[in-house]
Amino acid sequence: MTTYKLLLLPGDGIGTEIMAEVKTVIDWFGKRGVASFEYEQDLAGGAAYDAHGKAISEATMKLAQESDAVIFGAVGGPKWDSVPYDVRPEAALLRLRKDLELFANLRPAICYPALADASSLKRELVEGLDILIVRELTGGVYFGSPKEIVTLENGEKRAVDTQLYTTSEIERIARVAFDLAKTRSSRVASAEKRNVMKSGVLWNQVVTKVGKEEYADVALEHVLADNCAMQLVRRPKQYDVIVCDNLFGDILSDVAAMLTGSLGMLPSAALGAPDATTGRRKSMYEPVHGSAPDIAGQGISNPIAMIASFAMALRYSFGLVEEADLLDRAISSVLSKGLRTGDIYTEGTTKVGTKEMGAAILAELDTLSA
Ligand code: IPM
Ligand code: MG
Repeated sequence: MTTYKLLLLPGDGIGTEIMAEVKTVIDWFGKRGVASFEYEQDLAGGAAYDAHGKAISEATMKLAQESDAVIFGAVGGPKWDSVPYDVRPEAALLRLRKDLELFANLRPAICYPALADASSLKRELVEGLDILIVRELTGGVYFGSPKEIVTLENGEKRAVDTQLYTTSEIERIARVAFDLAKTRSSRVASAEKRNVMKSGVLWNQVVTKVGKEEYADVALEHVLADNCAMQLVRRPKQYDVIVCDNLFGDILSDVAAMLTGSLGMLPSAALGAPDATTGRRKSMYEPVHGSAPDIAGQGISNPIAMIASFAMALRYSFGLVEEADLLDRAISSVLSKGLRTGDIYTEGTTKVGTKEMGAAILAELDTLSA
């Protein structure tokens, strides 16, 4: 039986309480006997800053490098609003992405039937929605250099961020999108701003070339990123896989996420390239939502995005597709039974806390696998 090493980084705010729930789910799958999971837990974000004066320590980075998957909660909060930029909680996330070379960010936006009425759009527009945003995660304006604020001779300041992409960076993310599209409905929409940005022109050319030469069987459409944002709130079901750069992916994935009713529902995966000899890839799984400091510690946060992130780990890091499907079904079924945390609560449903939601998912796993 294969043993997988996980590094759990709960982070800040509700991170700790949702991580406690995902641990019970990991243990459940460990006991099932399909694989064994060993995990260590460590600090990241504000918690690490309080302990070490850094958003993530070198020792933690080493554990991350040695793990098969990092399971990440969320970082940040008002407590750290004024810490120096380089050590702000978010720096932990960016360093993990960059140092582990997790260039492919998969952000599915699925509208669970039970939640269609929680969306800000009409039920018919979102019912059955199943979009996958493939966001480039280690390049673009997030990491391009120079990235600085300089003081000019006249005393004025000038801030610069650099949007930068090379052919190979675009090719590899395009391939991830096309490969995933082949397992779905074989359609990719590539979003950029070729009408104003040189990086958009290159993005468009490279994605077109990869599509034509390697994926003739996948339908490729190009859309300007602003139009894509508009189409997502107008008629979201026209999309299947959307591929885009780091910044557009950040924005479009928040839009897509909210279509589903709650940010508290959405998982994500960040993947590196498969190792040439072992085939294993570095990876990190995290909910799309943040640390929600306003509700932290009250036991009312929604653990579903965190648990669904582990389902993505089962699917993409460990190849345990049946187990991943089982966990997704358990989540869906708990929702169909009317259980809701506060963020997705509507009249007539049963409001539960973080622990009760976690326990209900475990009970459902028992039932479904009996
Ligand atoms: C995300 C977040 C991060 C990002 C922040 C926390 C740095 O918004 O993962 O979408 O901008 O990538
Ligand atoms: Mg974001």
